[in-house]
This record gives sequence, C-alpha cells and structure tokens, in this order.
Amino acid sequence: MDLKIVGGTVVTDRETYPAEIGVAGGRIVQIAQKIDAEAGQTLDAAGCYVMPGGIDMHTHLDMPFGGTVSVDDFETGTRAAAFGGTTSVIDFAIQGKGQSLTDTVNTWKKKAEGKAVFDYGFHVAVTDLTEAVLAELPAMVAAGVPSFKCFLAYKGALMIDDGAFFRILGKAKECGALVMLHAENGEILDVLIKNALAKGQTEPKYHALTRPPEAEGEATSRGIAIAHMAGAPLYIVHLTCREALAEVKRARDLGWPVYAETCPQYLLKSFDNYLEPGFEGAKYVMSPPLRDKSNWADLWTGLVMDDLQVVSTDHCPFNFKGQKEMGLKSFAQIPNGAPGIEHRLMLLYQFGVRQGRISMNRFMDLVSAAPARLFGLSPRKGAVAVGSDADLVLWDPEAAWEISAQTHHQNVDYTPYEGVSGKGKPRVVLSAGRVIVQEDRFTGQPGTGRFLERRPFGR
Ligand code: URP
Ligand code: ZN
Ligand code: ZN
Repeated sequence: MDLKIVGGTVVTDRETYPAEIGVAGGRIVQIAQKIDAEAGQTLDAAGCYVMPGGIDMHTHLDMPFGGTVSVDDFETGTRAAAFGGTTSVIDFAIQGKGQSLTDTVNTWKKKAEGKAVFDYGFHVAVTDLTEAVLAELPAMVAAGVPSFKCFLAYKGALMIDDGAFFRILGKAKECGALVMLHAENGEILDVLIKNALAKGQTEPKYHALTRPPEAEGEATSRGIAIAHMAGAPLYIVHLTCREALAEVKRARDLGWPVYAETCPQYLLKSFDNYLEPGFEGAKYVMSPPLRDKSNWADLWTGLVMDDLQVVSTDHCPFNFKGQKEMGLKSFAQIPNGAPGIEHRLMLLYQFGVRQGRISMNRFMDLVSAAPARLFGLSPRKGAVAVGSDADLVLWDPEAAWEISAQTHHQNVDYTPYEGVSGKGKPRVVLSAGRVIVQEDRFTGQPGTGRFLERRPFGR
C-alpha cells in the first residue's frame, strides 16, 4: 500500500462515517475501520473530513476571449484550484470560426499537456455549425468529450441561432451527449447595448443594465422548450436569477431532464458591486451579470431543493490592469469573466454549510458528486469508494482563512472576494494518490494531470 489516511471522518454526497483509507497505484484500495497493512506514507486526518476532491466543470483556462486571453493557464489555474480542494476541471474548448471540433479539442489538449497538476477533461463549445461539424459530434463523444456548450448570447462572436441549437440537440440525443446552454437572449442584448452606448452610457454598471434578468429567463424558457422538442436533456450553465430558476423548476416538476448550475458569485455578490467607485465595477463584469441581492435566497433554495444540481466557478480571469481596463471607455470592451477557481469550496462551505443553509453531504454533491454523475466521471471521480481515483481532500473545518489577491494563487491581480473570511479549508490535497498540497504548500508537479475520457451522458 502506498499511503493510508487515518483518524478522519469520510464524507461523501451520501454518507458520513469514521474510517481509514488505503491507497495504491493512484486508487483507493481499502476503506475500513482499521487498516493493518503497512503503507509507505501515513497521513493523519484527525479533526478533518476526508472527502472526494472538488470537480469544477466550468472553467476557462488560457482562453482567447474579448480581444485578450484569460490569465490562468492550465498550470497556474489547476495549481490554484488544488489549494482550494478542487482536483479535476472540465474546461471549455471553444471552436473558432471554420475550425473542426477535432482540431478545437486538440488545441485545448496542447494547452493542458505538460501543465495541468491534476486530471482534466473538456466540453466543446460549438460556435460555427456546418454539416461537417454536426457530423463530428458522435466522434467527440467517442473521444471522451460528451458535452457541448451552445451560446444564445454574444451576438457576432459565439452566438448560434435556434435552428443550429435544435440540430445540435438532436444529434446530441442520438450520440449520448449533454448540451449545455448559455441562456441570455443575444438579439435583445445587442439592441440594449447599442442603445446604451448611443446615449453615452459607458460605465461598468451598464453591462448589467443591458443584460436584464428577463433576457436570461426568456432564453432559459426557450432553451428548455427547444430541448424538449428535440427530446434531449439540457444543462443550463451559470444560472443567476429567479426568472431563469422558475423555468428550470417548472421543467423539472414536469419530469423533463433539465439540469442547472449556479456559481458562488451569484450567491454572494450583487448588482451593488457595479457601483463601486471609479472603474472598480469592471472587476465584476461577467455574463450573465451579477443580479439584485433579492435573488440570493431563491438560488440557495434552488440548491437545497435540487432545482440546481451543481456549483461551478465559471473561472475566467482577466487582470484589472491592462485587461479589464480595455473597457475604460466602453463597458462593451471589458472582457467578460471573473476569477474564482481557488475559493469555490471554501465559500460554499462557509456560507452554505457553516451558516446552516446546506448539509455537508449536499455540499459534497454540489461540488463533486453531481458534476461526476452528470458529466460521465462517476464512480472514478466524486466518490470515496474502492476503485475510485484517490483524489482526496483532508478538510479542516476549523481552519480560518481570509481571501486576498496578495495571497491567493490565481494568476490574476484581483479577486471579487477581497477581505472575505471564514473557516474550513484543505489541510492536504491528493491527486491520484499523490500529495499535491500540504499545509498551504504546493508539492505537486505540472504535467502530471491526465486527460479524462468521459462516458456518454446517462450511460
Ligand atoms: O463572463 C463570462 N461568463 N465569461 C466566460 C464565458 C461564458 O459565457 O461562460
Ligand atoms: Zn457562458
Ligand atoms: Zn463560462
């Protein structure tokens, strides 16, 4: 046995119990009250939960976007994520105009190889649908990329029309893929943005004011109706508001295979952040935008009631200096996105579990087990089970933290959570049985992460 973990309490989405865990060859080989076998290394988990590593299935590492490139690559991004207890990511490979999907995924594989410090997979974002691209979808699924993102927003860039979306859904159903939707009405937003700029309304707050919640609610409703017509399952990404949540809930109550995620920023930050002095509001320019605070309670209820199944980050970091500043004269030039890959578990533990909104088991489901189930990684990931990868976190529920750009590990010059504090963070993080973070020190190696070939949806 290579390693054993003693003295901790195992927590998964379903169970909480004291046990020792034995690891060999990167996998869990034994779970027992007492493991007698000798091990090369013993980790003391006294006072800690021993839980499956987080899976962040919505990240944008090294992504060209809005005339620049997100500043965390697969090395800095996965390393920062590991400090926060995340041990796998599924990143978006974005199809360029005229590019094949095979080429798209190969481009993203090259970005990750030699860099990622833990395992990674890809979704592919289909932005330019042709007959040839449609015919490629089954090959993507066969190659371990069984999820496709479609955008109903970002007109003139990533947006596709309803017909293309419907065709992708039809093919996805045939070949066992899950279609993911960025749900905002891009046609309406385009008019609102042009109108605002024509009136000289250029500050960051107009980013939010030109992307109203009704545009998200409408696109969510339309997306669900189109998926239903295609007979295909649908996953709504980065859901922010009650208008969209009501549509997801309605569909789920009808028994339709509709799923959705939200992100910590939509639970903890609000429209008020766009009103911070000077150009500070640019730090929060993301799409969909931050909403009125009154949405927070609805989103937490959605997480409790399982109308929302996942909390991901949508980590898409751009420096304030030089990158966000591209929009000093116009909010429409601010690259969309914000950092968060490092702090997802800490924030959800502090504001969800510690504040009594969700149970520890629900926490594990939202950050690890549900992403594994929905995105073809279960039971290899998201579980503490014999045969699962030994991607494990020794979580110290009493360890105090305060977030600051001065001390975080993300390669970006600000954090939306500056000064936020709480308790509960990793003491040790393992990826495939290797200790990659211990007591706030990185001990992993760039390039040790493996490409995850995921199974088709529901199979
Ligand atoms: O503002 C955001 N969310 N940037 C990343 C791209 C996307 O839409 O997920
Ligand atoms: Zn999106
Ligand atoms: Zn995103």
